[in-house]
Amino acid sequence: MQVLTESKPTAAPTDSFPINGTDHLEFYVGNAKQSALYYQAAMGFEWVAYAGPETGVRDRVSYVLQQDKIRIVLTSALTPDHEVARHVAQHGDGVKVLALWVDDAEKAYLTALERGAESAFAPKTLRDEHGEVTLAAIKTYGDTIHTLVERSAYNGPFLPGFEARKSVFPVQPVGLKYVDHCVGNVELGDMNRWVKFYQDVMGFKLLITFDDKDISTEYTALMSKVVSNGNGYIKFPINEPAKGLKKSQIEEYIEFYRGAGVQHIAVATDNIIDTVGRMRANGVDFLYVPETYYEDVPERVGHIEENLEELKKLNILIDRDEDGYLLQIFTKPVQDRPTVFYEIIQRRGAKSFGKGNFKALFEAIEREQALRGTL
Ligand code: FE2
Repeated sequence: MQVLTESKPTAAPTDSFPINGTDHLEFYVGNAKQSALYYQAAMGFEWVAYAGPETGVRDRVSYVLQQDKIRIVLTSALTPDHEVARHVAQHGDGVKVLALWVDDAEKAYLTALERGAESAFAPKTLRDEHGEVTLAAIKTYGDTIHTLVERSAYNGPFLPGFEARKSVFPVQPVGLKYVDHCVGNVELGDMNRWVKFYQDVMGFKLLITFDDKDISTEYTALMSKVVSNGNGYIKFPINEPAKGLKKSQIEEYIEFYRGAGVQHIAVATDNIIDTVGRMRANGVDFLYVPETYYEDVPERVGHIEENLEELKKLNILIDRDEDGYLLQIFTKPVQDRPTVFYEIIQRRGAKSFGKGNFKALFEAIEREQALRGTL
């Protein structure tokens, strides 16, 4: 069963660092067993694979969860001095691996190193009865890494060493389809360095720049640049804090994450009203924007297919650009530290990131910061 390669996307022919798409995201967490239940019951992911003592892995457990093209791996250590345990002690639950699906992992790795990337681990080929997978990894911001995954000769449930599993209760998918973009928060002054890294090492292009005039409220500000790979399937916005009157949400993140890391993962749906309705019913909590947000929506956004009252009821945000419009909403952080969260996005032509919502959104985050005493 190799669900993700049924209709194989390909890299753009002129791409100097060909990537087919996102392979998976791996979180290092304190209690993978319980987190896996949250992803199944609240987020609608199916449990598809497992590795741990029962499968011959002695030092860690990993649960693999899947919804359409999105694959999330949750890993916990079984010993206190384990790399995964140390990562969790430092950062809390967070994204360790943004894995990229490539045709030739060794070649991609060597190209990256030649262009200045730092190695996280050298190429290795893993085998089991389902075939073989070659993995290699390079470092990116903070302690985050990009694993390069070559899986054309593999038809197992995830990677060699993993066994297929099924959720033990009926999971109701909520309509999440694929990863739209993954955002990194980096320290003050580091944004351009990481943008250059993606440009030089992986041949990404700079898509958009937001300065602190685009993204600021009365109190806090940030700057952001979005880079994208050749086929456009991988988009990495990089944020850094800018000077404001109070502590920005990026500074709060960096303080609690103890460094740079993944801030949010945006996942796409074809029906945000249905998706968010289901997620809310399952207990996922979202950022709140006041009713006044909706007052100028008809004027600002023009005609939309969705019923504005329904969007208002679910607190979904709307923005338009020259290509169309988009609907989006942000969860609150999905672990105790105010760090990683999810964005749910439905694109109706728009290729941008909801600039018209930044102010309302950051004011919503500031209300949460104020409650936490970190503004
Ligand atoms: Fe986003």
